Amino acid sequence: MTDAAPQPVFLKDYTPFGFLVDQVELNFHLQPTATRVRAKIAFRPNPAARDRRFFLHGEDLTLISAAIDGSPVTPEITPEGLSCPVPEAPFVWEAEVEIAPAENTALEGLYMSNGMYCTQCEAEGFRKITFYPDRPDVMAPFRVRVDCDLPVLLSNGNPVAQGAGWAEWNDPWPKPSYLFALVAGELVATSDRFTTSEGREVALNVWVRPADQGKADYALDSLIRSMKWDEEVYGRAYDLDVFNIVAVDDFNMGAMENKGLNVFNSRYVLASPETATDRDYENIERIIAHEYFHNWTGDRITCRDWFQLSLKEGLTVFRDSQFSADMRSAAVKRIEDVMTLRARQFREDNGPLAHPVRPESYTEINNFYTATVYEKGAEVIGMLRRLVGPEGYARALDLYFARHDGQACTIEDWLQVFEEATGRDLTQFKRWYSQAGTPRVKVTEDFKDGTYTLHLEQKTPPTPGQGEKQPQVIPLALGLLSPNGDEVLPTTVIELTEARQDAVFEGLGAKPVPSLLRGFSAPVILERDSAPEERAFLLAHDTDPFNKWEAGRSLAREVLIAMVTEDAAPAPAWLDALAAVVRHEALDPAFRALALRLPGEDELAEALAERGTVPDPLAIHAARERAKTAVARHLDPLWPGLYAQMDCPGPYSPGAADAGRRALRLAALGYMARLDGGARAQAHFAAADNMTDEIGALSVLLETGGADEALDRFARRWGHDRLVMDKWFGLQATLAAPERAVAVTRALTEHPQFTWKNPNRFRAVIGGFSANAAGFHDASGAGYDLVADWLIRLDAVNPQTAARMSTAFETWARYDAGRREKAQAALERIAAREGLSRDMGEMVDRLLAAGRIAA
Ligand code: PHE
Ligand code: ZN
Repeated sequence: MTDAAPQPVFLKDYTPFGFLVDQVELNFHLQPTATRVRAKIAFRPNPAARDRRFFLHGEDLTLISAAIDGSPVTPEITPEGLSCPVPEAPFVWEAEVEIAPAENTALEGLYMSNGMYCTQCEAEGFRKITFYPDRPDVMAPFRVRVDCDLPVLLSNGNPVAQGAGWAEWNDPWPKPSYLFALVAGELVATSDRFTTSEGREVALNVWVRPADQGKADYALDSLIRSMKWDEEVYGRAYDLDVFNIVAVDDFNMGAMENKGLNVFNSRYVLASPETATDRDYENIERIIAHEYFHNWTGDRITCRDWFQLSLKEGLTVFRDSQFSADMRSAAVKRIEDVMTLRARQFREDNGPLAHPVRPESYTEINNFYTATVYEKGAEVIGMLRRLVGPEGYARALDLYFARHDGQACTIEDWLQVFEEATGRDLTQFKRWYSQAGTPRVKVTEDFKDGTYTLHLEQKTPPTPGQGEKQPQVIPLALGLLSPNGDEVLPTTVIELTEARQDAVFEGLGAKPVPSLLRGFSAPVILERDSAPEERAFLLAHDTDPFNKWEAGRSLAREVLIAMVTEDAAPAPAWLDALAAVVRHEALDPAFRALALRLPGEDELAEALAERGTVPDPLAIHAARERAKTAVARHLDPLWPGLYAQMDCPGPYSPGAADAGRRALRLAALGYMARLDGGARAQAHFAAADNMTDEIGALSVLLETGGADEALDRFARRWGHDRLVMDKWFGLQATLAAPERAVAVTRALTEHPQFTWKNPNRFRAVIGGFSANAAGFHDASGAGYDLVADWLIRLDAVNPQTAARMSTAFETWARYDAGRREKAQAALERIAAREGLSRDMGEMVDRLLAAGRIAA
């Protein structure tokens, strides 16, 4: 790199900004390559700060003029911002800058997407719009005027006035700059009204491009349900006269909670039965809720600094999971959340990128929007709620909102309200925020004279920068079953606080079967040797739906591992247990569909590595294929009946009930295809009248072979629809057979519709291929090279998305020497690039460190 190495930022170095901002006024003259931004900002010395240096962040801005209290000034400008002498009393700063949104390919700051202007300011994008103290603890009311001849001109807050070619907006709620937003475009709205519990009439609009009109109904409906839910469950009402949502095609993340003006990746807004799957509908509902819930947990109460990111993200993910659980099946939602947590967060926590829920340093904050901050952060709140109970939780949240409204807060503030509202000392609990790594809980037991004792040991492995770990507070929910299947101890929560601890249960007639970690009551890995028969027993009898699923899952994992390491045949006990679940008509179809899904290749590789075996991606892939075929054969007589029974007649409904039936039906179709050569899947594909069935059948054909014609038909039918074509691209890269995966992916990158600067398309192909474990980890190293080449190329135009995708290399150190050498070479090739972004530089450094850890 030519520039000096970027310096890390430390939590311990926090100091408040020297000035407070009383008011921000912004004026935008939008032009693709010469947008003028005039800012008028009222500053006043901050009595709580000692350091009075006046520094404003600013990047890639051309300063046209600057003045203080009306007199021109000539600030000193660096690539990071400007400084300038200022009065020791309140003063008004004015500046005009020029920027070029049409040339902004990083999609951060003000940029253009399909002729529309939009902004993305979290975490540090506002500094690409104007000079400003771009840090979340500086909160101010904003007034914005937009001049532009596009018809729809939006910003935060309430509309003040508008005319042809201009609009004015006023946001009375003080906010940090990362929540600023502006949109200008040719857009159409799907609208409704909502009356809040406080009697406020709110106009709701979901804005999309004219071509997408008619696809915003579900988003709007989800918004209304979210608003109602937050009033009912958290007592939180909305606080402006309008709530706008805009769908944007080019977006680095899922969506953004800008005050009163949420900006969304269009894939989380647009839906019709023909173009969106059940999963898409579920995601839209969840993300609309997530961004809406941020209005209180994020916007009204924000973060003091970016180390506190989980304060808003962990809490808001927890809230959106509660919402989804209430809208759909709580059991299925929990199982799916745990699958994601294990696939993404456990993987992260176990590798070179492991970091605490509240990191202590970062070089590029964009690299810390992670599964740990989001999903583990949400789990930590779930544990807190379990420990203090629902009433204690409700009291603590009421206190949090009452005390901290309008403030920029810390994790300490958050824990303090729990301590005060419940009288509980959370000193030890706080380690969940500071210690990285997934705790392992080892369980052994004995039974004597009616007394059953569980010996529990907790240990968290070292992670980068953290050696020894202290014991954490682990709420362990458990139940006991008698050998005849009755529950002898209903769910009870034990609090593990020591490195070793016993739990004793007396007066039992026979040695019970324990059901441990019910509901996945803590984000830990349970280590316990148990016989396959016991797991099959729990799969049949456990009253806790999560553990019922978990029993089947862990049984499947064991069976698959034995198939990989010992070339064993799939255990009949497992096949019989699976058959019993599938046959069990009283069980939710969605649950049965989940039970039929085998652990993924990456999960198996991780499990093998955990046991000290170097995973062989091809052997894992082959074992999984054999297992699927064995399930198909063993349950052969069940499939046709199940397939017929799970039909969903009538018009498509995205609700959980029908979605569960479709999922089970497609699972049956997938297994049947292994026996009938895919004949039924071809018919299913041809007859599909919704995207869930269409793409479901196409996936089956891709997995079992014979998809070529269907792929062509699909592309002809949907070539005009970006979001649908993302699926077409993604599926092929993810499901390609290991030996063809590199070639298939390379061909996809040569396809005329591979518009790689669009993050959704890039993620579909390169992210899809990275998820194809056996393909990506091809022994030749061609998979590593392919991904590295594209990361280098994307980094030059969009560092944020490129850096995110580099997590493909998160697990490279667990493989054999040959693969390690090739992965390392690919990473070193990225690291050696001239002009590498700070984002990618930090990621590659951390990823390469895995080699030193493994060595
Ligand atoms: N704050 C957004 C959310 O989680 C995520 C996001 C972060 C979006 C950074 C864009 C940039 O709701
Ligand atoms: Zn969020």
